[in-house]
Amino acid sequence: MQAVTDIAEEILQLKKRRRAILLAHHYQESEIQELADAIGDSLELARRARDFDGDVIAFCGVWFMAETAKVLNPRKIVVVPDRAAGCSLVDACDVEQVRAFKRLYPDHAIVSYINTSVEVKAESDILCTSRNAVQVVNSIPAEQPILFLPDVNLGNYVKKQSGRENMKIWQGACVVHSTWSAKRLTAAKEQHPDAVIVAHPECPPEVVRMADFVGSTTAIIQWCVSADAREFIVMTESGVTHSLHKLAPEKRFYFVPNENCNCSECPYMKLNTLEKLHACLKNLEPRVDVASDIIERARLPLERMLAVK
Ligand code: 13P
Ligand code: SF4
Repeated sequence: MQAVTDIAEEILQLKKRRRAILLAHHYQESEIQELADAIGDSLELARRARDFDGDVIAFCGVWFMAETAKVLNPRKIVVVPDRAAGCSLVDACDVEQVRAFKRLYPDHAIVSYINTSVEVKAESDILCTSRNAVQVVNSIPAEQPILFLPDVNLGNYVKKQSGRENMKIWQGACVVHSTWSAKRLTAAKEQHPDAVIVAHPECPPEVVRMADFVGSTTAIIQWCVSADAREFIVMTESGVTHSLHKLAPEKRFYFVPNENCNCSECPYMKLNTLEKLHACLKNLEPRVDVASDIIERARLPLERMLAVK
């Protein structure tokens, strides 16, 4: 087996040779984040993909994020270390069900979370991420009925924040965030009474209600770094510790293990490894391919989202 430093060195050389950019989501292993040209939440990574000017995007995240990069930059080669890096929210929202809904309720605007397949994006009017979901919904005229999909917890959070009544919500959930319970959070708070609570909006409403701050992964990191507090209970995937420890080494961060795996990790994100990243840059596989008509149709809702301030 090759030493990590050797593989890392070879990845950097391959990256140069391929004229590649390495984009990493906050939930990736530290050793991958360490090599990345950009680390970010799904919104930031989409923007970086849009603005990239080389030949290859090595997307260290999950498949739907890489598809988004492909839609924004169709002439580039987009690779992901592991093809099986999916997402339970994507699985919860089949495109045929979305088409059936549109036939039944043609007057509804479809607002899709970026955690959807590219085919579902192509059926949507506008997309959103956890960072801009409230602004996206607020950008739609008040009288326009909405279907928000697929995350039920994010949907409920947005509905509450926007005060929007005419909004139907799909019933998908994240296998990681949705399994955190108020009971375990309360126990963590008893153990760390001085800690403030930060949560991703994919968490259940009872967890979100207990939080001092709710936001996307990058928003959580920025808030923790600038807050006066010294201790934090962090209700999102534990990959964010990479940036938290770098940006605020003097602060303490606690994670609450979820009921299923007793950990705080996304099983899909963690499929990507340094070895697989090396192989994918070498072989330019697994490669994201999206039909050109789907790219055309998915680009419009994506660009509408990127235009929302
Ligand atoms: P972010 O938009 O915060 O990156 O979230 C994406 C995601 O998959 C959270 O589970
Ligand atoms: Fe999907 Fe949840 Fe993993 Fe995010 S943490 S990629 S929403 S399964």
